[in-house]
Amino acid sequence: MKSRLQEIRSKAEFEIPSVKTEDEISAIKIKYLGRKGILTLLLKDLSVLPPDERKEIGKLANDLKNWIEDNLKQRQKDIKEKGIDSLKKGFFDITLPGRQTIIGSIHPLTKVLNEVNDIFIGMGFTVAEGPEIELDYYNFEALNIPKDHPARDMQDTFYITDGVILRTHTSPVQVRTMEKTSPPLKIIAPGKVYRCDADVTHSPMFHQIEGFMVDKDITFGDLKGVLELFVHRFFGKDIDLRFRPSFFPFTEPSAEVDIRCVICKGFGCRVCKGTGWLEILGSGIIDPAVFSYVKYNPEEWTGFAFGMGIERIAMLKYGVDDIRLFFENDLRFLKQF
Ligand code: PHE
Repeated sequence: MKSRLQEIRSKAEFEIPSVKTEDEISAIKIKYLGRKGILTLLLKDLSVLPPDERKEIGKLANDLKNWIEDNLKQRQKDIKEKGIDSLKKGFFDITLPGRQTIIGSIHPLTKVLNEVNDIFIGMGFTVAEGPEIELDYYNFEALNIPKDHPARDMQDTFYITDGVILRTHTSPVQVRTMEKTSPPLKIIAPGKVYRCDADVTHSPMFHQIEGFMVDKDITFGDLKGVLELFVHRFFGKDIDLRFRPSFFPFTEPSAEVDIRCVICKGFGCRVCKGTGWLEILGSGIIDPAVFSYVKYNPEEWTGFAFGMGIERIAMLKYGVDDIRLFFENDLRFLKQF
């Protein structure tokens, strides 16, 4: 009998601390001390024992009963204090650990675009936008690219109907803005553009940011100053850049800007095709022919313009070697930013 009492005690020692509600306390009480409780039934067997043993066991059983009662009382007090039981009644237990939610992050292209915008806004530029479905007139004609001009072959265009296309660059925003605003102006125009092209460095949809400034006496020096400041702020102060003569129908003179290869620092590698330089944008002094479309007097006003690919500079800044990674939405890629 002694060993049975010991067993009951060990069981209770194990069960009582894991009780969490008032209801469970009552259940345990009934289980051990109720009319058909484990301990109550054992006490009924006492009568079969010889008198002195009955006395000894009776005392032990009584001690155990008191011990269980005391412990249940203590546990009940603890539960009340901790408020665990209140959860059942609809209260909120602020001591419970929270459930973790997965937090999203800003897409690397949005991050780069925001950064570029901030740099130009810091130089006094304001943001303008234009439609992605664009008229041939704004995308080509008014940018001094007439219907039979070979420059149209430079961009493989998605045609919607004759005269309506998906814009192939952000330059039409120059025309739209100048048409409804009189100079001076200092604008950046970020947005999506479309070209029939797809491989590791080309996507049929990508992002560009256009920048242009029109005022009295704007020179190529102003263009150089603005772009140099941009490159140093975006890529770092120690990055060299160079202006290389180029051609665009809507700027004259025109230049492309290269930066010293961020991968090999100019020694020549696969990314810069051994040249040590990477092209990042096209630019130039706005051609007076464009001014004539928007009725600006070229004797009075001059301006510069540039256009830059966002994916391109994002790839260079973060060492991404496949443009498609930006659009596949693989979390393993996106989480790195
Ligand atoms: N629109 C040109 C392109 O997409 C870039 C450019 C913009 C060049 C403005 C000169 C001036 O390639």
